[in-house]
Amino acid sequence: MIQFTGIVAVILFNFLTNTVAVFICPQVNGTFVNRDDYRSFYQCINGINMLKYCPSATQYYSTGNATCQEGPAEWNYVYDLTGIYTVTANVEYRHVYQRDYDVYWTSDTPTVANTFIGRHINETHIVGIQTRLVRLTGCTSVLNARMVATGSKSFCQHTSLAVFGRACDLVAPYSSDLCISQ
Ligand SMILES: *[C@@H]1O[C@H](CO)[C@@H](O)[C@H](O)[C@H]1NC(C)=O
Ligand SMILES: *[C@@H]1O[C@H](CO)[C@@H](O)[C@H](O)[C@H]1NC(C)=O
Ligand SMILES: *[C@@H]1O[C@H](CO)[C@@H](O)[C@H](O)[C@H]1NC(C)=O
Repeated sequence: MIQFTGIVAVILFNFLTNTVAVFICPQVNGTFVNRDDYRSFYQCINGINMLKYCPSATQYYSTGNATCQEGPAEWNYVYDLTGIYTVTANVEYRHVYQRDYDVYWTSDTPTVANTFIGRHINETHIVGIQTRLVRLTGCTSVLNARMVATGSKSFCQHTSLAVFGRACDLVAPYSSDLCISQ
């Protein structure tokens, strides 16, 4: 006798569609770099492209030998963002630490503690996850965050609430933009 011990929930994620240009296959067959995110590449078969991600989160696609490999061979991040940035005078400071292609930061105020873990996806863009803890209530939000290095020791950032992330005391539409420099 067959026993149903659980219910399979099918959840459809509605991924954010950024304004990314449509990729046209330069040759009918082959793999080609995705400049918007070097962790991925386009595979063209008979002129139809499909975006594919490297098998490991630490790999980038290399055009040189058309494979994914640890550590990019053909590009480098443009700016090292390591440093202490003032978000709000006398209240909020952001400590950014960059180690190769990984970027971390923390930012604490008397009321909120933020932590970010991210990684370069190309020369100037970093994507990652930010957690935001409201000290008084213990409520924690998980946010998707993108940093864009705009110059030496300066960057802009866009955050939005992750799917199923708790809003806590954030105000709709639960997203924010910020540019800071040292
Ligand atoms: C492209 O690849 C497909 C599938 O492998 C093959 O049938 C086709 O002949 C290839 N086209 C060219 C121009 O190599
Ligand atoms: C990096 O990727 C973003 C999109 O993810 C794109 O807008 C930007 O132009 C890319 N930067 C470079 C230097 O190619
Ligand atoms: C691809 O090239 C890189 C250096 O650019 C090298 O480290 C790696 O081993 C090569 N991979 C293959 C499969 O040839």
